[in-house]
Formats: sequence, structure tokens, C-alpha cells
Amino acid sequence: NWTSESIIDAEVAKIRERVGDAQVICALSGGVDSSVAAALVHKAIGDQLTCFFIDHGLLRAGEREQVEKDYAAGMGIRMETHDESGRFLEALAGVSEPEAKRKIIGREFIRSFEAAQKALVAKLGSEGGDVKFLVQGTLYPDVVESGGGEGAANIKSHHNVGGLPEDMEFSLIEPLRSLFKDEVRAIGRELGVPEKIVARQPFPGPGLGIRIIGEVTRERLDILQAADLIVREELTAAGLDLEIWQCPVVLLADVHSVGVQGDGRTYGHPIVLRPVSSEDAMTADWTRMPYDVLARISTRITNSVPEVNRVVLDVTSKPPATIEWE
Ligand code: XMP
Repeated sequence: NWTSESIIDAEVAKIRERVGDAQVICALSGGVDSSVAAALVHKAIGDQLTCFFIDHGLLRAGEREQVEKDYAAGMGIRMETHDESGRFLEALAGVSEPEAKRKIIGREFIRSFEAAQKALVAKLGSEGGDVKFLVQGTLYPDVVESGGGEGAANIKSHHNVGGLPEDMEFSLIEPLRSLFKDEVRAIGRELGVPEKIVARQPFPGPGLGIRIIGEVTRERLDILQAADLIVREELTAAGLDLEIWQCPVVLLADVHSVGVQGDGRTYGHPIVLRPVSSEDAMTADWTRMPYDVLARISTRITNSVPEVNRVVLDVTSKPPATIEWE
């Protein structure tokens, strides 16, 4: 019979005992799992923990600021943001094949993390601190899945921010290894992690990079960020955040469609809404969302994002489709 409090107390004691006076690092993605794992470790050892937030430029609008201000600053967690968006965009230039994009993003993430980690090790080392541990927000379902049940025959190479190089000389701290998502959320709330972070819907490690169908460019990211922000605002305003597991917004960047605005012909891009209901993302159904919410989203996007002249709804379950388009 667990309570959030008893789990926190037990984990805090375990972490303190294991870590002693060593230094600990963590890659924060801004998602629920890594945020709660870091908050738990922070409660145990305070400033012996340093978090890295790698901004790969594929984040949603306002995401970096939320992690920096509401989460890290608000909770007093020591965090370094590394803006690596230039590096990622350069590496992604000219690439549209989904698996190629995923591999590039994964590789650049590891490079960025290693650079950040080496710089910190050098700095702390010169002050006498020894960096020995790495925090990961692994949950129970992740453990089961990677243990190789029948399911997930490699359909997509998942890039988990936190899926780090194998040759790193750190011991892992994985305080959420025996927990499910809802338990992790309860613990996060108990630890004072802001609701905006705790209630976050799943967001893939490769971010908007796999929601632009075609090459990823700065301009296309701007378009998708604007549309995605509108969708999130309207879903929240309609009180649908809990009902919908997640709602990827996808830019069909290589597709053009003809439209008309005022008395002018437009030749823009379609945006796809992919609201899904699910228990665990292994299977999903498309969410029967209220028409008036869909209508508001469509009107707002086409009014305020000039490059988009069409909004379409994805009505496929998983299987046969996956949740993300790539
Ligand atoms: P699919 O598209 O495979 O997605 O039905 C299932 C769930 O996983 C998320 N997703 C990812 N999460 N790294 C992640 O951390 C990834 O590379 C990745 N790809 C997909 C997706 O958002 C959905 O919740």
C-alpha cells in the first residue's frame, strides 16, 4: 500500500545513502518523468544535482521558458540550458526520411549532452567535486518494454531524451523505476512540481522534428509552433486536457493545397490534428472531439498562420496508424 509521501521518503533516504557527497547530473527534457525524477533527487541532495536542458530547437512555443522559470527557478533546482538549436538544424538540413531524422536528432542529443557533461565535470573537478551519478526518469512500463516483451518490434527508433551513451562512466539513479505514470504525477505534485509540468501530455524526444513531414527548417518550425500553440490553448480552454491522451499537430510541409482568402488564391500547407485517447500509447483511438472546438481551432489557425490554408482531422486508430506521423 503505497502513498506518495512514503515513496518519496524511502527514495530520498536511498538516494542520500548511495550518493554521499558525490555530484549528480540529469538530462531534463521538460517532460513529466525527468522533471519528477530530478525533483526527487533534488529533495534528497539539493545542489549536488545539476540538470542540463538541451534546447534542440524542436520544442514547442514557450516550453523552454516554462522549464527554466516555473520549474527550475521556481523549485530552486540548479539547471544549465544549452542552446544547441543551430547544431540540430544544421545536421537536419536536407533530410526528410523519418528514421534518418530520428537518428540525427538522437546523435546530436548525445553529442550535446556529452559536451555539457564534460564541461561540468571539468569545472566541478577543479573544485574537488566528483561527478558519479546520472539521473534517469525511467518508469516501470519502460523497464518492461525494453525487457523485450512481444510488443514493440522495432517500428520506430525511439529517441528518449535521456537515452544516453552506453560508454558513460556513471552509475544510474532511476527513482521511478517501479512506478506508473499516474503515480509519478502524484509524487510530482507532492514535491511541488508545477501543475503545468506534471499534467503534461506525452511529447516525443525528437519533438517537432518528427511532426514536420519533410525537411525541418526554422521557417517550418515557426509555422508549426504557432499552430500547435493554438491547439493547446483551445484544448485547455475546452477542458479537454485530461480526456485527450495527446494531440500531435502535424505540418504537411511537402504538401501544398489551394485555398482562397479575400479574393486571392493561396497555395499553402495543410495542418493535421491528431487527437488520441489511450491508456499507454501502445494502442489508441482517435478522440471524438466536440465539433465546436475543432471549428474554433481551424478558424484560429487559418486566420493567424498565413502559411496554413487547410486544417484536417486524423480519424485513424492505432493500429493500423501510429500516434505520431513519423
Ligand atoms: P507512436 O507514434 O509510436 O508513439 O504510436 C507512441 C508514443 O510514444 C511517443 N513517441 C516518442 N517518445 N521518443 C519519445 O520519448 C520518441 O522518439 C518517440 N516517438 C514517439 C508518442 O508521442 C506517443 O506518445
